[in-house]
Amino acid sequence: MSSRGSLVLGIETSCDDTAVALVDRQGGVIASCVASQVELHNAYGGVYPELASRAHIDKILPTVQTVLAQADAGPRDLAAIGVTRGPGLIGSLMVGLNTASGLGHGWGVPVIGVNHLRGHLRSADLEESRVKYPALVLLVSGGHTLLARLENPTDLKLIGSTVDDSVGEAYDKVARMMGLGYPGGPIIDRLAKGGTPCVQFPRPMYGRGFGLDFSFSGLKTSVLRYLEDHPEAKQEDVAAAFVDAVLQVLIYKCRAALQEYPATSLVVVGGVAASPQLRAGAAALCDDLGVQLCLPPLRWSTDNGAMIGLATWDYLAAGVSSTLDAVPGLGMESF
Ligand code: KG4
Ligand code: ZN
Repeated sequence: MSSRGSLVLGIETSCDDTAVALVDRQGGVIASCVASQVELHNAYGGVYPELASRAHIDKILPTVQTVLAQADAGPRDLAAIGVTRGPGLIGSLMVGLNTASGLGHGWGVPVIGVNHLRGHLRSADLEESRVKYPALVLLVSGGHTLLARLENPTDLKLIGSTVDDSVGEAYDKVARMMGLGYPGGPIIDRLAKGGTPCVQFPRPMYGRGFGLDFSFSGLKTSVLRYLEDHPEAKQEDVAAAFVDAVLQVLIYKCRAALQEYPATSLVVVGGVAASPQLRAGAAALCDDLGVQLCLPPLRWSTDNGAMIGLATWDYLAAGVSSTLDAVPGLGMESF
């Protein structure tokens, strides 16, 4: 049992995981539960939006109950409920928003709509305060690939983004082409570790003249062409060549961004930040540049309710009262 109003209930349903957590003001995670839909979507090689919303409807209240029971907590312990309002799938977002607003109304607790991307940003401070400002953030998820400069937890400037596919999307599409499961990231990473790059795939938008933006759609197509032309190629080797190309681009852009916008720490967040190869590459870069690397613990890299909970504390501190409208295309700079 916690003291009155000392916790935030974070609810995340923007995509394919029903995730809920209780978080204190310092980012301590008091309880957390994620109802994964991986099995449900595996057969489709990606997220099937209508099935995702239906599964959220089934799972959301039991997941809230599980989390409250884990912490022996109730409505009186809550300072607020924070719920993802975008970006994400409209149906999935609406399940979270409607549920949160019903609970808030019934319990007499304020409800705050939270930007999912701001949740990822704050994931690196869960359980322990790690980020030193000014910071440079690389956010690599299934839906986004962004570089931003952070002056403090909420004051951010977007300095680069993808012009087409995100990194996570490229991983997922390459996994689908190779007949592997969903999500593709962990499967491709695992395969890549046992392979040798068989080819030098293109490094899209790599080099001076391209600024800090990214492009991954052409890389994905090159992998497809290679697989068509080399049906005998070992999957491990193709995966290794793909991961090599992705990593080289990501690390190059981080180096260029740190040179242009000197920072005390580099923060790498989002589902792809679970990649051991990316974690190692970012660590080597930070060693080289004398910058502190801040990574969320693995379980807080992919979507979770705790990051939404911690971001909610920022909204409370800043007095930001966002709306509870679902905004599928919400940008990183919005609250
Ligand atoms: O942040 P996230 O859980 O959801 C979105 O906000 O999109 O990111 C999901 C993405 C998927 O594309 C998945 O393939 C990727 O993160 N991912 C990984 C790894 N684990 C998840 N990518 C590379 N390596 C991993 N170990
Ligand atoms: Zn996410």
